[in-house]
Amino acid sequence: MDDSPRTILVTGGAGFIGTNFVEYLLRQTDVRVVVVDALTYAGQRHNLAAYEGSGRYVFVHGHIENAQLLYHLCRTCEVDTLVHLAAHTHVDRSILQAQPFVQTNVQGTVTLLEVARQIRLRRFVQMSTDEVYGECLRGECAEDTPLLPSSPYAASKAAADCFVHAYRRTYGVPAFIVRSCNVYGPYQFPEKLLPMSILCALHDEPIPLYGDGSQRRQWLYVDDLCRALWLLCCIGEPGQVYHVSSGVELTNRELVAQILQLLGKPETLMRSVPDRPGHDRRYALRWEQLRCFGWEPSVQLEEGLRRTVAWYRDHRSWWEPLWYGEYAQYRRQWYEQVLQSGVRQEG
Ligand code: DAU
Repeated sequence: MDDSPRTILVTGGAGFIGTNFVEYLLRQTDVRVVVVDALTYAGQRHNLAAYEGSGRYVFVHGHIENAQLLYHLCRTCEVDTLVHLAAHTHVDRSILQAQPFVQTNVQGTVTLLEVARQIRLRRFVQMSTDEVYGECLRGECAEDTPLLPSSPYAASKAAADCFVHAYRRTYGVPAFIVRSCNVYGPYQFPEKLLPMSILCALHDEPIPLYGDGSQRRQWLYVDDLCRALWLLCCIGEPGQVYHVSSGVELTNRELVAQILQLLGKPETLMRSVPDRPGHDRRYALRWEQLRCFGWEPSVQLEEGLRRTVAWYRDHRSWWEPLWYGEYAQYRRQWYEQVLQSGVRQEG
């Protein structure tokens, strides 16, 4: 029996991964897409404006904690697959203020799971992160590595993942979890290292590197994540955890150096600043399972960075209001309240 999706509800569809995923669905598949997005600072409805009125895409402004709205949408739009991307995602903001992360990432996920109990879904896809395992100094984390989150953000995602597991076991919600490494590409809010570095460099401003800049992350181009998500929407099995990564690991300093080179800017733009409290030095995921399904990353880092830099260079009108608006305010607060006050975490 063909149980591939016909109508997908994407929460957080106006955010970074959401926008790219919805575009992928509308261009590469014939599914119908319903987006629910609260349009917080990180979500922009106009990202997908070109598809409004197309007949295959519906945008609804709403919060994932609004169970009635979600239930109504799932019923009236005959949603069979739910991809849960809505989340607060920035580690530094969670250090400034953890509560919104508990509210959206934990409470919001539980609300969605409650809705999922009441309808017939084929799949509930929980988007998660490698950060739930905490620092991984050697080797790679497997799907059953114990969760040991370091930041309030990671803790909120780990808690949400635990609820997903519990709702699958207790109520049979057909849910599984996708954990990804660092993702980059167009439409990423400027608070993240990669777009922030591009935009600082374009302005010839110093690029703040936390601590010694030798923290390591794996980097995946967003199109490759979208392909993996779609594949899992079609064949993912309830109760599983799936890892998505490129295996391409770099220090932050190496990554920023590549961006500077692409932009023809000097490495002297990199500036060491006090470290992020509780900063994990390394994450690494084992992702053989997806390879067995025939998925592998197709965009090499150099190409992905080239495309991303070009996108930000060509989309000033997208990032300018963010860079000089919400982001500027937040940056000031982060530096004054956390980095300059020397907040430190033991051990
Ligand atoms: O690993 C997956 C995770 O990747 C996602 O779950 C998160 O939602 C996403 O925000 C990202 O978390 P990171 O903390 O790794 O991303 P971020 O871009 O904030 O930072 C990447 C690295 O760069 C990290 O080691 C911290 C460092 N960094 C970051 C900023 C914003 C700096 O050195 N300076 C900075 O100004």
